[in-house]
Amino acid sequence: MTAADGRLADDAVAGLWSDPPTLPTKWLYDERGSLLFDEITRLPEYYPTRRETSILHARATEIAALTDAATMVEFGSGTSTKTRLLLQAFADRAETTGRWFTYVPLDVSTEILESSAAELARDYPGIDIEPAVADFTASDLTLPTSNGPRIAVFLGGTIGNFDDAMRATFLSRLAKALEPGDYFLLGADLIKDTGRLVAAYNDKAGVTADFNRNMIEVLRRGLDADGLYVDDFDHIARWNPMHHRIEMWLRARRDIDVRFRGLDRQWQLARGAEVLTEISTKFDPTVLADELAQAGVVVEHQWTDDHNDFLLTLSRR
Ligand SMILES: C[S@@+](CC[C@H](N)C(=O)[O-])C[C@H]1O[C@@H](n2cnc3c(N)ncnc32)[C@H](O)[C@@H]1O
Repeated sequence: MTAADGRLADDAVAGLWSDPPTLPTKWLYDERGSLLFDEITRLPEYYPTRRETSILHARATEIAALTDAATMVEFGSGTSTKTRLLLQAFADRAETTGRWFTYVPLDVSTEILESSAAELARDYPGIDIEPAVADFTASDLTLPTSNGPRIAVFLGGTIGNFDDAMRATFLSRLAKALEPGDYFLLGADLIKDTGRLVAAYNDKAGVTADFNRNMIEVLRRGLDADGLYVDDFDHIARWNPMHHRIEMWLRARRDIDVRFRGLDRQWQLARGAEVLTEISTKFDPTVLADELAQAGVVVEHQWTDDHNDFLLTLSRR
């Protein structure tokens, strides 16, 4: 069993026998899951990536000038596609200031992180690319040392995957890890029409369904399971108005009876019962600014796109 399988075992024991059963979202992102997510970002229904890209397009140069950062750490960097807009702006700035710029993409998805970092190193020879395989929910959140201000970046609305308590914990850990004068750039999806939100997580082509159901394959492989099949689960995406979040569930199509050899345990799920795999909280700009302030950073700018769909917030420690 690898270290990752060991952590999956711990999360499965803690989550699958709870009510409702649940698993941490990070387990959606094995190599196949990361590639499927990348496909999702290009779907017509999935507006967040296009909207966030348009804000970055308009603001990247300004962000590089405002922060004058020497090091950028990105949590959950994935393929770093949008981040290229920031990298170009910082590379241009490094050329004029003569100061070296370092980019640390950080992700749990090892294969995607490594292949993306190799491509970035080729495309940005003037930037030092130092990928880090790490879990951003770990209690020992640390940032690399730097010869100038640092900017921590968290894009894609991934902050929405935390519930309220986890978000408060993450933000205060991050604020503590930053030094005075460091920056935090946060991308967050905004509350909007429910129909558009649900469609973004339940696309017509079924790519999000494949992405969600891939969690079953991750469990089967990682925990050596007998009786666990992707085809026995439906993808469900629904809006939870109380917590203003989209929830993704896996619903059993029949009674499930699984032997997890990796856990030496049996797991049952009745037909129609559901496992929670992802929440995606949507935000109000003022509420988010208050949360950031409470965590210990000062909000300096909030930018939205032309459609007011997505929000980029730059704050300073
Ligand atoms: C919604 S995707 C966003 C990817 C990219 N930043 C974007 O904006 O398109 C979430 C990313 O966070 C990573 N991730 C999820 N949970 C993580 C965790 N606990 N620690 C580190 N990375 C994580 C995933 O592997 C994935 O690359």
